[in-house]
Amino acid sequence: MDYLSINKQAWDKRTKVHLGSKFYDVKAFKEGESSLNTVELEQVGNVEGKKLLHLQCHFGQDTLSWARKGAKVTGVDLSTEAIEQANKLNSALGLDATFVANDIYQFGHENIEKFDIVFTSYGVLCWLPDLSQWAKTIADSLAVGGEFHLVEFHTFNDLLSGYSYFPRPEPDVEIEGTYTENCDGAKSTVVTWAHSLSEVINALISAGLSIDHFKEYPYSPYNSFEDLEYVPGQGYQMLHKGQQVPLLYAIKARKIVA
Ligand SMILES: C[S@@+](CC[C@H](N)C(=O)[O-])C[C@H]1O[C@@H](n2cnc3c(N)ncnc32)[C@H](O)[C@@H]1O
Repeated sequence: MDYLSINKQAWDKRTKVHLGSKFYDVKAFKEGESSLNTVELEQVGNVEGKKLLHLQCHFGQDTLSWARKGAKVTGVDLSTEAIEQANKLNSALGLDATFVANDIYQFGHENIEKFDIVFTSYGVLCWLPDLSQWAKTIADSLAVGGEFHLVEFHTFNDLLSGYSYFPRPEPDVEIEGTYTENCDGAKSTVVTWAHSLSEVINALISAGLSIDHFKEYPYSPYNSFEDLEYVPGQGYQMLHKGQQVPLLYAIKARKIVA
């Protein structure tokens, strides 16, 4: 199955819907609002003067938010539609980001540049069949001493939504809308894979990265799943039998040897 073409088509379609959505609020972003959330801002810290690679950058709002904070940024995404829009935003804002339309594994094979920070967040891992290749791409892209930052939706929520928690050899192939308003306008076939927490952590360790920090969170900044409730000052939570479900996790890892 040509999962890359199927998912590229889906993300090209989703991008068009996302651009006009309240969820992404491009107008506010253009007027100066950052699209980054407290979790990643606190974890990544000061990026001034750092070379930052953003994997699966979608149409670039987070990438350009890091650029506004002084990072020299490169964003990579499979969707040519998303990268076209990212380049338009970059020009409109007078920033000097580089955007690359590519599969991240292919990017990993071709890239020779070294970065101080590799960043990726919110809904990225399920699109990737093989986390060893993902982790190798990260390790190969980092300079020695460089940091990797992941903020991802917790797989516990996938389990409660009826998906496998543990990895399976065959992907889920479904017709789905997207996670913003007007979600049905983006209905398309998508191919996704389950990745347990141990699989993510072991992939990073096997690629030679040292894990500095791992944290789970009961609140999400996004109202993008069913049955979430807003808690003022905290974000969205989900209760299962009266208890908070872990909704996000974050990992910071470091490249310590060449
Ligand atoms: C949920 S979005 C990431 C959301 C992002 N945090 C944001 O700013 O909205 C997932 C992104 O992964 C990209 N993607 C999926 N498979 C990919 C692949 N194999 N290589 C590169 N990008 C991929 C999609 O095109 C999409 O833009």
